[in-house]
Amino acid sequence: MSAVNPSLETVRDGASADAPRAAEAGLAWWADAIIYQIYPRSFADANGDGIGDLPGITSRLPYLKRLGVDALWLSPFYKSPQADAGYDVADYRVVDPLFGTLEDFDRLLHEAHGLGIKVIVDLVPNHTSDEHAWFRAALQSPPGSAERARYLFRDGRGENGELPPNNWQSVFGGAAWSRAPGDRHWYLHLFDGKQPDLNWDNPQVRAEFEDVLRFWLDRGVDGFRVDVAHGLVKDSELPDAEQRKENRVLVGPMWDQDGVHEIYRAWHRILDQYPGERMMVAEAWVTPQERLTHYIRSDEMQQAFNFDYLLLENWDAGTFKSVIDASLSLAAEVSATTTWVTSNHDVVRAPSRYGLSRPGAHPKGIDAAGEQPNEALGLRRARALALLTLALPGSAYIYQGEELGLPEHTTLEARYRQDPMFIRTHGADIGRDGCRVPLPWRADAPSLGFGPGDRSWLPQPATYAHYTVDRQEGVAGSTLELYRQMLRLRREHALGKGQLRWVDTDRDLLVFDNGDVRVLINFGTQTRALPAGGQILLSSEPLKEPSKLPGNTAAWLTGSCPSSS
Ligand code: NOJ
Repeated sequence: MSAVNPSLETVRDGASADAPRAAEAGLAWWADAIIYQIYPRSFADANGDGIGDLPGITSRLPYLKRLGVDALWLSPFYKSPQADAGYDVADYRVVDPLFGTLEDFDRLLHEAHGLGIKVIVDLVPNHTSDEHAWFRAALQSPPGSAERARYLFRDGRGENGELPPNNWQSVFGGAAWSRAPGDRHWYLHLFDGKQPDLNWDNPQVRAEFEDVLRFWLDRGVDGFRVDVAHGLVKDSELPDAEQRKENRVLVGPMWDQDGVHEIYRAWHRILDQYPGERMMVAEAWVTPQERLTHYIRSDEMQQAFNFDYLLLENWDAGTFKSVIDASLSLAAEVSATTTWVTSNHDVVRAPSRYGLSRPGAHPKGIDAAGEQPNEALGLRRARALALLTLALPGSAYIYQGEELGLPEHTTLEARYRQDPMFIRTHGADIGRDGCRVPLPWRADAPSLGFGPGDRSWLPQPATYAHYTVDRQEGVAGSTLELYRQMLRLRREHALGKGQLRWVDTDRDLLVFDNGDVRVLINFGTQTRALPAGGQILLSSEPLKEPSKLPGNTAAWLTGSCPSSS
């Protein structure tokens, strides 16, 4: 340690003191965890049918271990007609044969645990599939029956009930109501017509989901990602409401009603009855961000996805700094830790978003007719963004393929598209298929090694051959090796458990310390000076001169950094 530089002493002392404090405070595993999202149908296909499966995931666990993740989140693999890629569940306790069997799941869980990797599964409580036994029974039962009371059936408006009960629109486009075949009732679906919304005022619904939680907890899962956590309870009057977005988030009487919290408090109590630290993470699209903290109060969920960070529309230092500050302070107010997310299966992949003239320009997907991202610029920014994100205190989510720098498939032809959003809007909203394309593992193999043959449920673009795991493995400077190093150093320097201290910021540059690591990210195009005396741990691009940080580049330093650069 340099005795010449007192400011470094302060930083280092802070860091060495932080780690034991965190341990003493008994931080739970998820507080600083790296959680890797697996979209099962697109991760790895063991049986060659063109759709990824559970044995495929199990076969790749050593890869994930080597990457250095702490936990996996598996998107739905339950019995489903796949109208919304499995977010339409027909049986919550059964594995869809597309993905394997319950034994395959148990094996995956067992092997992941053997490698020290936790597993959280997706819970879809807002709606079932229309092929769920309950909905089938509801359609076969008359209006007013107990079977219908588990869903939101209502009489239509108009002289003969020919109009929907209110003017709500589906998130995927079109009316949020469909007519029950052959009678006067309509049923609510905030998403696709094949995803009828459950009635959370019905005690049977509550009891059923508590039982589903126990079913998976008994098998040993470490937690749940809760789908549409802000949607379960609607304003009981179901009043008319225009579709409205605030801060890029849909608001209205069907979203973020206070009644949802009682449900999560009940679930929290169930999780508490199990050994180990089981957790829940909320998928809650709410605004302002203060509202998100309600979901992570100490008796509710443990985490919520940080969509304010995910949805940032400007590539500039100030925008990032203000969301980082707000996220950290709001989470601290409820004694929670924050999460960081830059990609998932619902949004355009980060390297493509940040390669657009404006990152938020195409929230509903990109096709060949739209602006094509600048691939090199987008990748460069995404790598810099990763160095920023993974240096922040808290927990971070990585979406499969992010570690390869994988771009969106932006020229996928309409005939392949399966997203209900695309189908319901007749292509006006391009949808999310472009971020769900099967992963490329081997450059010289059919389906780029996704499966044993050439089948792949969505075609992979030719450019994916440049991003395969085998082309990046062991290659200095590849995105995969950059992620491996980042995750290793993040752990070694306890960044997830640390504290952020801003050192310097301006329009283009963010500089902060976390423990003994100084982090710099240059959002601009002008080269900036790196602090003299610092030792470069990692940079998002090779640095031609060790004292200079080029544009759209980030670096982690340690050693004798002055207190301000
Ligand atoms: C959020 C999921 O992430 C998305 O993929 C799905 O379409 C909707 N919820 C409906 O379940």
